[in-house]
Amino acid sequence: MRKKIAAANWKMNCTLQQGEQLLDGILGANIELKAHQQAIFAVPFPYLTMATAKLNGRKGYSIAAQNVYNKKSGAYTGEVSAEMLQSIQVPYCLVGHSERREYFSESNQMLAEKIDLLLANGITPIFCCGEPLSIREAGTQNSFVAKQLEESLFHLSAEVVATIVIAYEPIWAIGTGKTATADQAQEIHAYLRSVLAGKYGQAVADQIPVLYGGSVKGSNAKELFSCPDVDGGLVGGASLNAEEFATIISSLP
Ligand code: 13P
Repeated sequence: MRKKIAAANWKMNCTLQQGEQLLDGILGANIELKAHQQAIFAVPFPYLTMATAKLNGRKGYSIAAQNVYNKKSGAYTGEVSAEMLQSIQVPYCLVGHSERREYFSESNQMLAEKIDLLLANGITPIFCCGEPLSIREAGTQNSFVAKQLEESLFHLSAEVVATIVIAYEPIWAIGTGKTATADQAQEIHAYLRSVLAGKYGQAVADQIPVLYGGSVKGSNAKELFSCPDVDGGLVGGASLNAEEFATIISSLP
């Protein structure tokens, strides 16, 4: 069975103390995860070791970094390398979140470099893709997201691509309270999987979890996650509330 994942993206939120409290609240719900289920917390860099300690090896619970630099090492003041993340046992890292693409001008090519460095260090990329409102309104979202996959992922071998995670996040649904409907999510997730199948074959495409992101909440998670090609969610705002995120974790099929 494909992995089902509830991933929290805290973005640039929480003090250390608030972050500790949030994790305590979520872990306090004592949600036991099945072998195919995972809860992932993409926390700010300064909290990665705290979060690892809090999760304390609990089955199915992991941390993620929110970003990594696209160079191996050197004079890049303020940046964090894949090797650094690997050295503190970070298992996952978000790549290409739309906020990074927009505010930090991250190109598909740059993201391909980040993905290669993460994989070389044994870290699983959670590759984010998704279209802006203008593209959705023009009805060209499929070719837009296909190009994102092609330019950042299609240099990978089938064996390697089968190990990554993809998150589809329509930009118009991020932080807007305007969630894609379950039908809209299913339609484009199925399309993304068909693009992967076209390049790598159906068996490989069937192994890759494709998460939905954009105003996922406790109240809509179950419906979205029940779509056959939606393998969980990448959650911003609602992941900052322990009760909400616990409900989202509990909504994993
Ligand atoms: P919201 O859940 O706040 O819409 O954010 C989604 C997101 O960007 C997760 O990466």
